[in-house]
Amino acid sequence: MIISGKFFYKNSIVEGCIVVEDGVIVDIRKDIRSDDKFEVSKGLILPAGLDVHVHFRDFEESYKETIESGSLSALHGGICLVVDQPNTKPPVVDEKNYLRRIEKADRTSYVDYSLNLGLTEENSSEIEKIIERIERNVRIPAVGEVFLQHKTMQVSYETLKSVRDRIEKLITVHAEDAELIRDESVRPKEAEIIAVRRCVEMGKFYFCHISTPEALNIIHRRSFAEVTPHHLLLSKGKVKFERVNPPLRSERDRIELLRNIDKVDVIASDHAPHTIEDKKNGAPGFPGVEVMYPLMLNLVKNGIIDLKTVVEKIVVNPAKIFGFDMYSGIEIGNYANLAVFDFSEVRKIRAEDLHSKAGWTPYEGFEAIFPKVVFVRGVRALDYGEVLVDRGFGMLATGSHMQYEH
Ligand code: DOR
Repeated sequence: MIISGKFFYKNSIVEGCIVVEDGVIVDIRKDIRSDDKFEVSKGLILPAGLDVHVHFRDFEESYKETIESGSLSALHGGICLVVDQPNTKPPVVDEKNYLRRIEKADRTSYVDYSLNLGLTEENSSEIEKIIERIERNVRIPAVGEVFLQHKTMQVSYETLKSVRDRIEKLITVHAEDAELIRDESVRPKEAEIIAVRRCVEMGKFYFCHISTPEALNIIHRRSFAEVTPHHLLLSKGKVKFERVNPPLRSERDRIELLRNIDKVDVIASDHAPHTIEDKKNGAPGFPGVEVMYPLMLNLVKNGIIDLKTVVEKIVVNPAKIFGFDMYSGIEIGNYANLAVFDFSEVRKIRAEDLHSKAGWTPYEGFEAIFPKVVFVRGVRALDYGEVLVDRGFGMLATGSHMQYEH
């Protein structure tokens, strides 16, 4: 198959043809005459995104989200690959639940899927063995997100250090210091800053959802920093149901985080769906997998960040850091994971148009640029709102063990 039009290639916009065979880009050429050509006459072809931080719930919390509903939401947002998190009910902290979940994803996911293994005080002493057993079947992208402060999955600094010293694998950390959180809903900036400082001294980590410019500065060039769209776009006291961990910060901090976007390695959604009822009862977290790429592209349209930055942090860097070699953008040898965006069509976000079971969004009324067409491994999976693939089309993403260096 040949897909032609304007596309983002080697950091600039070029016009030409992307030649695809068996889902893989085999050539990129200026022009090819062919009847079998999918022509994009309006819009820009970008690499489809990765969201390396989603909580697709399922298991006993399928009323909040399932792998099926979450991955459908991802597809509508131009995301071709997700990394799911293990704080499910029951949690993914052993081989049995890991493989049970992977098997379910294989049957029900619309997009390519991968899963982190959870670390707890209880499984920490045998984590190498658990990894080894699981990896006989499927590659684990990372251990995480490790909670330094959590009701049931808390891990101490000592345990984290011991595991860091023993395993090679990427470890993703939810860095908020337990001592500084007196009450679940009062989580000062210092809790994040101190936890990050302590972890950075232990070795290299991937820090999830960094919310303070101070922590971002500590991490820069020493470890990896992820930020979420909500910490870049929303601030304290401005949205309904604003509880999220780490919390929204002041408008000043938000602007400072956005101003320092160059220091960020990855933008990921921390898609954490809860129903409105659960939110009313104080559940922390926002759904976001469907709106992340569209919101970021609207920032590009408004001249706030540039396209290269968005593609780097939603496609190139996450692919490299988590070792998904063939997902790192429009390049010969990579999967043809493509999303067509028309920058002249800005849409207002409405919860009723989204596909997560959460049924609400903190971005109601925000402007965004949604994909018109999404190709996953060369297959047209989404076409102007119509889903052309079945559940289970998503593949278990393997990739290599390659680690990314700054
Ligand atoms: O607000 C949050 N909700 N932060 C997290 O780190 C976890 C998430 C969840 O799973 O609900």
